[in-house]
Formats: sequence, C-alpha cells, structure tokens
Amino acid sequence: MKFFIDTANLDEIREAHELGVLDGVTTNPSLMAKEGIKGRDNILRHYKAICDIVNGDVSAEVIATDFKGIVEEGELLASIDEKIVVKVPMIKDGVKAIRYFTDNNIKTNCTLVFSAGQALLAAKAGATYVSPFIGRIDDVGGDGLALIQQIVNIYNTHGFATEVLAASIRHVPHLIQCAEIGADVATCPLNVILGLLKHPLTDIGLEKFLADAKKTV
Ligand code: G3P
Repeated sequence: MKFFIDTANLDEIREAHELGVLDGVTTNPSLMAKEGIKGRDNILRHYKAICDIVNGDVSAEVIATDFKGIVEEGELLASIDEKIVVKVPMIKDGVKAIRYFTDNNIKTNCTLVFSAGQALLAAKAGATYVSPFIGRIDDVGGDGLALIQQIVNIYNTHGFATEVLAASIRHVPHLIQCAEIGADVATCPLNVILGLLKHPLTDIGLEKFLADAKKTV
C-alpha cells in the first residue's frame, strides 16, 4: 500500500519524506490556497518544489472545466516534472480529458469521486488513480469505506489497472480500514501518518526500559 501526503505544505512534505515512508503527494486548489500560493508562475514553481522533495507521484489539479482548457492546463502541469500526475475532476469533459491524457502517456488522478459508477467511468477512461473522498461521504451520513470496498471489488473483478487512492482520510482508523480492504493508496494529512506511531503501551514500555537501563550503567 502506498502512502501519499495530502498537503501543499513543504515542511510537512519534508517531514513525511524524512520518515522514509512517503510514496507521493496529493494537492488540490484548497490546499494550495491554504499555503498562500497565488498566480500561475508561483503555482508552477511550488509544484516543482514539491517534486524536488519527494520520490514519487505528485498530483497537481487543473482548474479548467472544459476539455480544451483541461488538456492545455494538464499538459503544462505535466511539463513541470515527470513526477506530476494531472488531477482532473469527475465531470464529462474531465473523463474525455483523462482518455486524452491516457492516450498521450500522461498520468491522471480522477478526483471528486463519490460513487462506484464514477469510479467505473474513471477506470474505463484509463485513469492512473481514482480518488474517492471517504471523509466527505461520512460527513453527509454515508459510508466512505463501503465505497472503497465496492470500487476495489469492481476493479479486481474486471482487472482494471486504475489504482484506488483513498482520499479525504480524517483519522487513523480510516487509514487502517483502507489498508484492510485493499485500497492501493491512502492520501492523508501528516497527523494521520504520524498517528500510526502512537500507542500508550509503547510509551510506558519505553519509559520502563530507559529507567531500567540506568541500573545497568
Ligand atoms: O485532496 C482531496 C481530499 O483528500 C480532500 O480531503 O479533508 O478536504 O475532505 P478533505
């Protein structure tokens, strides 16, 4: 299972990378805005800075919503670095653009996916990744993990190569359950990745070992 970090914050990306468990990065316009990145040139430079930190795929989202605009923007993003994956929304022109990018060897991440039907379309268009937003489904009373399971089953049954990238992960149990049900990738905030470290018995055990070690010097 791959671990991506869901942020545009360079310090957080560095911290996850230095932990040695990071396989890639996902961003979106909200995460870029949170970092105060403004203007096309600054946005492109910021994506390049992210690519320079990580060894792995970096999802960069298009803003255009028409086929021509998505293709132009996606080709520009893909020209920044070979690690760039063009993130495209699940809309009609987005699906057409994913097919175009697939046919032109540009990797894609189909985002804003909330149903199995949308995930099926993304796979048919040849998306590299599909991003179901599990936290946002839970927020409106749905079952985000059940959707991940459904998509994993459909892709396995039919042998689709598209990887299931569980997004909008809010807490450690989400991440563990995504691992259990076979999501290919989980993209999480840094606190969720670091949350995997924590167990009170580890802290208590370490404290005791260190106290006892003092008796042996
Ligand atoms: O990057 C897409 C997704 O992970 C967004 O998460 O927490 O804004 O629902 P969230």
